[in-house]
Amino acid sequence: MSGEYDVSRGTGNANTSVSHFGGKLFAHSESDLPYTIKLGSDGDIITLRRHEEYGEPLEQMTAHPKVDRETGEAFAYRHNIQRPYLTYFRINSDGIKQPEVKIFSKKQASLVHDFAITKNYAIFPDSQIVIKPAEIIKGNQPALVDPKKVPKLGIIPRYAEDEKEMWWVEVPGYNCMHTVNAWEEDGGDTIVMVATNLLSVEHFMDHQELVHSSMERLEINVKAKTVARRPISTRCLDFGVINPAYVGKKTRYMYAAILTDEPKFSGVVKLDLSLPTAESGDCTVASRFYGSGCYGGEPCFVPREPDNPTAEEDDGYIVNYVFNENTQESKFIVMDAKSPTLEIVAIVKLPQRVPYGFHGMFVRECDLQKL
Ligand SMILES: [Fe+2]
Repeated sequence: MSGEYDVSRGTGNANTSVSHFGGKLFAHSESDLPYTIKLGSDGDIITLRRHEEYGEPLEQMTAHPKVDRETGEAFAYRHNIQRPYLTYFRINSDGIKQPEVKIFSKKQASLVHDFAITKNYAIFPDSQIVIKPAEIIKGNQPALVDPKKVPKLGIIPRYAEDEKEMWWVEVPGYNCMHTVNAWEEDGGDTIVMVATNLLSVEHFMDHQELVHSSMERLEINVKAKTVARRPISTRCLDFGVINPAYVGKKTRYMYAAILTDEPKFSGVVKLDLSLPTAESGDCTVASRFYGSGCYGGEPCFVPREPDNPTAEEDDGYIVNYVFNENTQESKFIVMDAKSPTLEIVAIVKLPQRVPYGFHGMFVRECDLQKL
């Protein structure tokens, strides 16, 4: 017993994503509950404990909770291998979990890695990537692609107390992995969602290099219960992010990583979602490549004046880690989000490499001090 591993604080790896709400900083993996963490005086991460207030001892929580900065609430869920296959819940601004909504209308276990919220709704993708635990007995992977299944989106009122008002709409050919944002238009009659769609999803389990992650804009007609969708970039994009103050609100700008060779991202793009895509098929208004042999991870938008309510949506910086495989050097780079070339305005040389593929977020020093 070296003391490096304290099982009383939990045994999960919590290595997918991070979030900050209810005065706490969390590290997430969707196969476990979140872990509260803080930074030590030397900048190292200290694990406090498994946060069992958000579930029973054997339960899990998504790695992608959605935080409404205006209300301070967080919205989350878990997906299960047994009924109910989906459970939705909300955490109030004091960090107190509200009663769960068990969703029995989802008929099969599937990978629900991410979801979206608007002012009035939560939207859940149900993809062709299904989970069949019985496959383990046959020596197979429990997750597999079912080409016969028609993907769906599930829409439930954001403050639902049960699943009575939830409805599902079939969206053939739509297999979502990550959402970017969602909001309402036309007085609430349309839900717009921007999210990825895995093309050639049948290769997801064994040949990920053949899967193209397309960024799409979906328009859900709430009255007719139909969905129209279109790609907004011709590039293979993932890890789409926005100004965090706009979660659930109409967003003009998003930023995404250019996927070159999973999990390597060779650059970052800025998309203007107000542009029509009919002619060019692409909303890209700025981009930056990191250079030959250089790869980054998930970009993060940092507002320049986070406390100024009149600040422009894209007035800020995009930050990222970049690893140079030629020189084995790692850098933290800061780009001007308003610049048409996403100009690099600062570079910090790092003493250590940050592995590819993790999600990330920016937390202000003043918020870290309050943990
Ligand atoms: Fe993710």
